[in-house]
This record gives sequence, structure tokens and C-alpha cells, in this order.
Amino acid sequence: MAEVIIVRDAAAGGALVADHIAALVRRRPETVLGLATGSTPLPVYAALRTRLAGVDVSHVRAFALDEYVGLDPAHPESYARVIEREVVRPLGLDPARVRLPRGTLPGIEHAGEDYEHEIADAGGIDLQILGIGSDGHIGFNEPGSSFASRTRVKTLTRQTREDNARFFAGPDEVPRHCITQGLGTILDARHLVLLAFGEGKAAAVAGAVEGPLTASLPASAIQLHERVSVVVDEAAASTLGFADYYREAWAHKPAWQGL
Ligand code: F6R
Repeated sequence: MAEVIIVRDAAAGGALVADHIAALVRRRPETVLGLATGSTPLPVYAALRTRLAGVDVSHVRAFALDEYVGLDPAHPESYARVIEREVVRPLGLDPARVRLPRGTLPGIEHAGEDYEHEIADAGGIDLQILGIGSDGHIGFNEPGSSFASRTRVKTLTRQTREDNARFFAGPDEVPRHCITQGLGTILDARHLVLLAFGEGKAAAVAGAVEGPLTASLPASAIQLHERVSVVVDEAAASTLGFADYYREAWAHKPAWQGL
């Protein structure tokens, strides 16, 4: 069962996860992080700025979950730019050690396989940060994605394009295709940390944590992983059946166990 941690708000969730990541990097300077984009992980990245100040991050490597296909990498909403803006520059990471799947059209047919090789060559991902879509996607693995899937091109659902329209001039400006780590790729990471804030995520979170294992709700794949931390605020936790149990378990967790 995933460990579910119910926090006061997104800032508290960001602080909790950032504390854990900073401790990991101090302990293991060559940590390999898996990065999500979108709004959800921003409090983690913001909290990491102070926690990693003065820490040697020159050996940290990072792999993003996904990228839009066919969007100019210089577009302010390409995930390459978002990661550069929100993570690489503020945290002082080495840009050469932070990778994204290649969404540009020439070579797109082998970009997924290339990315899988890059992750494997780095020794795999130690900690993968995840958000969750309102339709239950993680990465951009939309409903129906195989639990065994690897990095590949996917078509975004109308729902996801509408959800992401806030970053563009409108839903029609959101690219139709993306390249994303597969569910199988995500499950290979050694620790999954899924964050979700707000009522709009409540149904997806309940399905992911307590619902049946089903490709119709791709995030339910996290139930197959032996180490998952789900960090949610009260609103995102509002339809969880075992919320009282999660609160009790967290309140009595021995400090030495950490996240
Ligand atoms: C982004 C990603 C997506 C987002 C999800 C939630 O790299 O992989 O799964 O995490 O769409 O997006 P936000 O956080 O904007 O609600």
C-alpha cells in the first residue's frame, strides 16, 4: 500500500518533500532525480532553493517525465524551458546532467528508446516526483496506457489539453502529442513521490491509491511499486476511504523511517 501523507497545504507538502530530497542529495551527491512539470511540483522546487543552497549539486542528474512533441524547444511552455526556469537555474544544477525526452520531429521515432538508454546509463532514477492529471494520468500516460509501457509518443486527451490550456492561449494551442516515460519506466524508479493538491485531484487520487488496478486509471500502477509516498492536502484527500488510518500511521511513524 502506498504511504499517504495528508498535509495542511501545498507549501507544507513542498517543504516535506524538499527536506527529504535535500537529505538524499547530501547523503548521495550523485542522486538521480525524476522531475515532473505542471503546477503541482512547484512548491517542492521552490522549497529546494533554500535547502540546497550551499550543497554541492554538481553531481546530481535529473530526467524529466515528458515533453510536448513538435513544440519549439524555445517556446516558454516547452518542458525544456520550464525545467530550465523552475529547476536547473534556481537550484544551480548542471544543465548537461538534466535531460528530457526529445520532442522535436526529426528522429522522434527513436527518441523514446534513446531516452530509455540514457536513464539506464545513469543507473536508473532514485526518486521520481509525480503529479497526477484529473483523468488519472501520471507522466502523460493517458487512460488505457499499458502498465508495461516505456518512453514513447502519446496523444493527449481533450481533458488534458483543456487542463493545460492555462499555460497556452487556449486548448487548441496545446500540442496534441507528447513523448512520455511509460508506466513501466516510472515503476523502475526506486522511490515514487506523488503529490496532489486541490479538490480537482480528489477522485484521481482515490482511484490511484484505493481503486482497482486498471489501465483506465494509469496512476493506479503505483500500487505495484514497493516504495510510494503520496503527499496530498485535505482537499485532494477528501474522498479517500482510509484517510483516518493514513493520518494515524503518519502521526506515529518512527522518525528514523523518514519519507
Ligand atoms: C507533467 C506531468 C503530468 C502532470 C499532471 C498534473 O510533467 O507528467 O502528469 O503532473 O498533468 O499537472 P498539474 O500539476 O499542472 O496539475
